[in-house]
Amino acid sequence: MTATFATAHVEHLAAVLKAVSGFVLTPDKHYLIEPRLAPVARRYGMASVEQVLGKLRTQPDEELIWSVAEAMSVNETTFFRDKAPFDLLRDEVAPALAGRRAGGRLKVWCAGVSTGQEAYSIAMLGAAAGLDLEILGTDFSQRCLEKAVAGVYTQFEVQRGLPIRQLVEHFDKQDEMWRANARLRQSVHWRKQNLMGDFRGLGPFDIVFCRNVLPYFDADTRRTVLEKIAAVTAPDGFLFLGVTETAMDSDAFRPAPGRRGLYARDPEFRLAA
Ligand SMILES: C[S@@+](CC[C@H](N)C(=O)[O-])C[C@H]1O[C@@H](n2cnc3c(N)ncnc32)[C@H](O)[C@@H]1O
Repeated sequence: MTATFATAHVEHLAAVLKAVSGFVLTPDKHYLIEPRLAPVARRYGMASVEQVLGKLRTQPDEELIWSVAEAMSVNETTFFRDKAPFDLLRDEVAPALAGRRAGGRLKVWCAGVSTGQEAYSIAMLGAAAGLDLEILGTDFSQRCLEKAVAGVYTQFEVQRGLPIRQLVEHFDKQDEMWRANARLRQSVHWRKQNLMGDFRGLGPFDIVFCRNVLPYFDADTRRTVLEKIAAVTAPDGFLFLGVTETAMDSDAFRPAPGRRGLYARDPEFRLAA
């Protein structure tokens, strides 16, 4: 059964989340409140989630606001999630762009990278295909970034999408865990970046992955974020969204014909048929 909380508390929580992370707390997500905020209550020595919500409303501090926003965000990810976008990157997008860049070096941004699997997948793919990729992984969650930087994953996590050959080549077994080896860890840069914030100082990027992040925002926020991403993407660059998403909220990117989840800055730039 879903726990119920004072309506004013829930409305305030929704307003805080929208302002801090863009997350829209629709009624179908209210079931997340109790399990996500129970650990926050424990950390702050509070007796209940209701108390967390009360403090958030009446005596908020920065640390509590960020802890709540982080705890409420959805961090689901896997290595090579959906597979097809990674094949598309290796076989079509990267070769097409590398041929247009001096030295063939491409700058890739994984925005909303969660615990790092997406960025490490791109790094492994780049190493196998001989691509010269400079990869930046960003998220607003400190907790996620710490795990990404450490590069330490459970058996369950590596079993989700990571082929055994790449596991053996790029990871070392440490007790019950697997740790990305130094070469793989060093092939990705990490940075805390809120998509609600200012992107100045980032980019320009040739390729941006922002997958499975925008569906948690409303249409206005999605449009603003897409436009900010476009501003730091090369004029002939590409954006990968999740396979069920569209960039329809903005005309900053156009769908690449026949390539699901891929969007181009330049509507005229055609990948080979
Ligand atoms: C569902 S995960 C997607 C991870 C990965 N991109 C993938 O597709 O597997 C969404 C990630 O977006 C991050 N996120 C949510 N709102 C954000 C914001 N405003 N700024 C930066 N990251 C955000 C969350 O912390 C979470 O790690």
